[in-house]
Amino acid sequence: MIRQAIILAAGKGTRMKTETPKCAFPILKKPMIEYSIEALERAQVERIITVIGYKKEVFTTLLGNRVEYAYQEEMLGTGHAVMQASSLKHEDDSMTIIMPGDMPLIPAPLIDKLFRSHEEMGNDLTVVSMNIHDPKGYGRIERNEYNQVVGIIEERDCNDRQKQIKEVNSGTYIINTKLLFKVLPLIKKNTRSGEYYLTDIVKLMHQDYRVRTFIARSPEELIGINTLYQVSLAESYLRKLINKNMMELGVYMVNPDTITIGHNVVIEEGVTIYPNTTITGHTVVKSGAIIGPNTELEDAYIGNYSRVNHSLVYDSKVGEHTTVGPFAHIRSGANIGDHNRIGNFVEVKKTTTGDHTKAAHLSYIGDSTVGKNVNFGCGSITVNYDGVNKHQTTIGDDVFIGCNVNLIAPINISSEVFIAAGSTVTKDIPKGALAIARNKQVHKEDYYSHLIKPKHD
Ligand code: UD1
Ligand code: CA
Repeated sequence: MIRQAIILAAGKGTRMKTETPKCAFPILKKPMIEYSIEALERAQVERIITVIGYKKEVFTTLLGNRVEYAYQEEMLGTGHAVMQASSLKHEDDSMTIIMPGDMPLIPAPLIDKLFRSHEEMGNDLTVVSMNIHDPKGYGRIERNEYNQVVGIIEERDCNDRQKQIKEVNSGTYIINTKLLFKVLPLIKKNTRSGEYYLTDIVKLMHQDYRVRTFIARSPEELIGINTLYQVSLAESYLRKLINKNMMELGVYMVNPDTITIGHNVVIEEGVTIYPNTTITGHTVVKSGAIIGPNTELEDAYIGNYSRVNHSLVYDSKVGEHTTVGPFAHIRSGANIGDHNRIGNFVEVKKTTTGDHTKAAHLSYIGDSTVGKNVNFGCGSITVNYDGVNKHQTTIGDDVFIGCNVNLIAPINISSEVFIAAGSTVTKDIPKGALAIARNKQVHKEDYYSHLIKPKHD
């Protein structure tokens, strides 16, 4: 049967008390909803419709045409939200998974298993339930004397007996699509909240159709995020899981509780990671690299045997056998060559460097193309900004830049150039030249005593 999906993400997430709509709020720096989408894609779901409403542009910007959208203008409840997705195929051979957008930890294999079990059992509706110690906030699963599920009671509608029920609704369902759109219009407004509860489909279907629960074994995979505290629970669960997988693949982590690795990061066997390190986005770290302590990598590529220590690398590439840090900042599409040294308090932005180039201390290198075997002396700087525009600097191979040199961009420095310390360079330098751009030193003899008058008691 065709697999389709509806993700519910129109709600504001009032209990979060955040500006960002809940389903776009990040878990390990990645928006919550992307986890569900990724899992659905991996479970061979053909069409994904996301129901959005509150701050819908946030989602369309984030997801582009990766999913289809349905709009819910008014937040009239989960049942009403699903109704907006009626553009789904209604064919007989189609089944739809309905998932909240606030359930980021659901694994793709579980989704696959849910679809398979729904088909194998010949169900019309499968409700994914779980047994949890503290059911607060979840809808409770109501069963009859034959142990068949007959309803889902929301927390606020529970009587004292129902409050004690530990089996809860995960908020995920699989239903035959044709049936879904037949039953949805029958849902009545909840008199207390004024909302249309999707959960009411159980009550409406259990007599005439095959309604069964799938009791999930690992409830922590189905946590629904309603508060910032639950964000932290999801993050610490995911962090442990990812770190464990990494370590089993041969990544050595020192004090892993302080190390955060994002969901889409690739780290090869033979990498060492020191404490207080965060690696997120689409980062790749190649074998033999040593990362941390106190380091942040986001959308970075770190080549074999490179070392990044107490430093930040964002949206940039670092070659092989290169050392970065301590306290370096590499960003905005920088591309550092092999055998480089980007040392103490050096910032590199939108710059390419050739192999064996070094900036060991206190430099800013921005909007530049730098050749190989270039040495930036301590404190040397590309002056790329004139207050209005940014300008380019190009530097050839085998260039020695003395300490505290200012290269006023736009400027071209050819190969085999030596620039004297303290120079402020405003003109292009030809190949092979020594450039000195500073005032000659003068000595005024016997001058000290004119400036510093001796003190008499
Ligand atoms: C829902 C279930 C509850 C279940 C729990 C699991 C209902 C009525 N209740 O409760 O049984 O135990 O999930 O986490 O379904 N949404 C919309 N439009 C709306 C309302 C909500 O798109 O009008 C979206 C939200 O953005 C959210 C999802 O639906 O992603 C679930 O809504 P939420 O308010 O979190 O439902 P719960 O109270 O958690
Ligand atoms: Ca929820």
